Amino acid sequence: MSDTRPRRTFAVISHPDAGKSTLTEALALHARVITEAGAVHGKGDRRATVSDWMAMEKARGISITSAALQFVYRDHVINLVDTPGHSDFSEDTYRVLSAVDSAVMLVDAGKGLEPQTLKLFQVCALRGIPVITVINKWDRPGLSALELMDLIQEKIKLRPTPLTWPVGEAGDFRGVLDRRTGEFIKYTRTAGGATRAPERRMDASEVEENDALVWSHAVEEHELLSLDEADHDQERFLAGKTTPVMFASALQNFGVAQLLDLLLDLAPEPTATAGVDGSVREVSDDFSAFVFKVQSGMNNSHRDRLAYARIVSGSFERGMIVTHAATKRPFATKFAQAVFGRETTSVETAEPGDIVGFVNAQALRVGDTVYVGDPIEFPPVPTFAPEHFVTATAGDISRYKQFRKGIEQLDQEGVVQVLRSDLRGDQSPVLAAVGPMQFEVVEDRMVNEFNSPIRFSRLDYQVARRTDADGAAALRGLRGVEVLQRTDGTHLALFVDQWRAKTTARDLPDVMLEELPAGGN
Ligand code: G4P
Repeated sequence: MSDTRPRRTFAVISHPDAGKSTLTEALALHARVITEAGAVHGKGDRRATVSDWMAMEKARGISITSAALQFVYRDHVINLVDTPGHSDFSEDTYRVLSAVDSAVMLVDAGKGLEPQTLKLFQVCALRGIPVITVINKWDRPGLSALELMDLIQEKIKLRPTPLTWPVGEAGDFRGVLDRRTGEFIKYTRTAGGATRAPERRMDASEVEENDALVWSHAVEEHELLSLDEADHDQERFLAGKTTPVMFASALQNFGVAQLLDLLLDLAPEPTATAGVDGSVREVSDDFSAFVFKVQSGMNNSHRDRLAYARIVSGSFERGMIVTHAATKRPFATKFAQAVFGRETTSVETAEPGDIVGFVNAQALRVGDTVYVGDPIEFPPVPTFAPEHFVTATAGDISRYKQFRKGIEQLDQEGVVQVLRSDLRGDQSPVLAAVGPMQFEVVEDRMVNEFNSPIRFSRLDYQVARRTDADGAAALRGLRGVEVLQRTDGTHLALFVDQWRAKTTARDLPDVMLEELPAGGN
């Protein structure tokens, strides 16, 4: 029987260390986890439960895998799509954002808006993803709540519309004022935040003596906010003009229930999606899905390859024969899994908004569409402006075949972008990355999985611009620039620095030199 309860599919995003893993665990604790994953990415004491498919991941305590945690809350099915913690893997995070309907942005109350926070807000704006902002770590001293609202307004150009307002300043977290009902939600600490934190809702008249002062302060600020038109407006939120804000301490489980309530009440549900030809797939139409991530090497003993797909329309049933839009070939979904961390469970049925992992789907690549019935092809998942470049050569020339195969595979998975040119030949392709740690993943996998040592040599380029075949011809031979072609056919002009890119664009106004937005192209 398929589970047709309403869906909410979202990702938690943040600058590293804002508390993403902690919040994920707290959410799982609050809700009933369907896949009984149990193991959630974590650090420190929780390292024992960290997904460890790759030794490197474990050693660094960062998560490189992305999959989904599925749980039930108030009779809704919630899909929390995991994103990597390290900003070097931001390209992966951007891809995951193509598979969600909304995002929860965690902001560290002590640190305010950090570089990755700003970048991620930008990506969400570009992709039209509504964002709920959670000010985390309110149990620790930090900026004032009004100061944080000003920062969001000024730096992100989003109007913050707080739905809860803290009672007690940062470091003295007594509870929150529910701005929709005017009630005081008082939190009680539990040892180590190990269980759901008890909370008590009360009217203003019931506020106890020792909370009276901080409560009246919160009420005052709440009234100020209302005068300042900082109240929630659903239409403006969905249009990406405002961000609902709430205050929490993920570590103490404070505010977690309110976040789940907000997701249910405000976050959009899966909706119709347009294909590249403009045709629209309604949620209730025949099955369709698109791949947003491909991953292999999760299990060294048998080389599996998982293609994670987000279901756009229709019900999925394991064993279903679907059509692969890119090749028009049928594809049998004999093995489908739900994956979270190390845990995998077999998926029998799934609905729009859910994430399924197709096992050993060799033909599926990032961005590919699969469907049943009327053909549909969804727009490609965006790639991002690389900022780091190396040439790669086989460390052992007798293993060149393995080297080629490995590079091809990692290219398909989107671990790095692979660039080539006639000039350079096929022996040493250029690898391009958003973060340099992507190269470490390449090295690790080439050695351990493809049995081919690899040598990198750093290239002095810093900036990539999109050009075309005419542009490639015009730029040939110029100093400080080189044109290469990505596997998807895109011509990229690489420049040694911003200055060279700017002056070239100025000197050759007829040459196409498009900036690749950080948020995709
Ligand atoms: P990330 O996934 O976003 O990178 O962050 P993570 O959850 O790993 O949290 C980073 C650090 O911040 C952790 O401390 C975590 O305990 C702490 N933290 C998260 N949420 C809160 C909160 O609401 N209040 C406070 N006070 N701290 C919070 P750590 O010392 O780096 O790791 P650990 O050994 O405690 O796990």
